Amino acid sequence: MHILSANDLSLNDINKIFLIADQISSGKSFKVKKFLTLFFEKPSTRTRLSFEVAIARLGGSSSYIDSSTTHMSRGESIEDTSKILGLYSDFIAARLYNHKDIKTMAEYSSAQVINSLTDLEHPTQALADVYTMKKYKKLKSGKVAFIGDIAANTANSLMLVASKFGMKISLIGPKKYNPNSGIIKIAEENNKDFNINITDSIKEGVKDADFIYTDTFVSMGQEVEAENRKKLFAPYQLNSSVLKIAPSAKVMHCLPAHRGEEITSDILDGKQSIVWEQARNKLIINEALLVFISSNKK
Ligand code: CP
Repeated sequence: MHILSANDLSLNDINKIFLIADQISSGKSFKVKKFLTLFFEKPSTRTRLSFEVAIARLGGSSSYIDSSTTHMSRGESIEDTSKILGLYSDFIAARLYNHKDIKTMAEYSSAQVINSLTDLEHPTQALADVYTMKKYKKLKSGKVAFIGDIAANTANSLMLVASKFGMKISLIGPKKYNPNSGIIKIAEENNKDFNINITDSIKEGVKDADFIYTDTFVSMGQEVEAENRKKLFAPYQLNSSVLKIAPSAKVMHCLPAHRGEEITSDILDGKQSIVWEQARNKLIINEALLVFISSNKK
């Protein structure tokens, strides 16, 4: 199977991945002696290294390819490149600008493809996010408030995973800045109890939240709009005034953080931050995901 969207995994699949992750955390070791190619068009610190370490811990191996060093930068097509990657690899973790390209990669490659971030989704991040939340709150009764860029790929994948567990989601962002309606429709189809509130009011959206989540205001590929986006989202910074509305909420961020922009340092480093645990869980979840998909081939 490929993991192109968080919705490629059923609730049952996600629970299995979480169970494997719990076993890994308790010291159980698994073997997946396979080859993982990381094919990245954009920079990465966490996703890249967590996959590299995960496959090494499983007894497999990996190679990181910066796409700009390949013949794709000289015009070789994504279709031909994907065929070649599939000839040499069992898994491809790909970070691509356009979501349609990851679909093409899955179509043309014989390897199992894992979306490691596109403009539309970041499924492995959402798995790590919800796995982290599970330790603090029964998911079915949990509420996550996503503040800032509510159309971000992280928000999209988070909605898809959270909806499967029946979590409440509040999306808090500027008036007339809309989340992805296609993703919301899928999330609503996932679970009739999925409860979503879209608001420009921080007070309304954050109230009663168990988790407050933010992400960068300027995602990779949006650099030309940087100044406009920073101005647009500035009122939606995660800071001490926001946290006062939900005083026991845990603070989450997928990282990298832009201190003083979407989040202030006191909150990122504060007592309620579970950001570093969230980052550590990317390793455990990616290892669990590789174990899971290795026994769920196409
Ligand atoms: N959260 C995340 O995907 O981090 P990287 O961009 O460092 O991989």
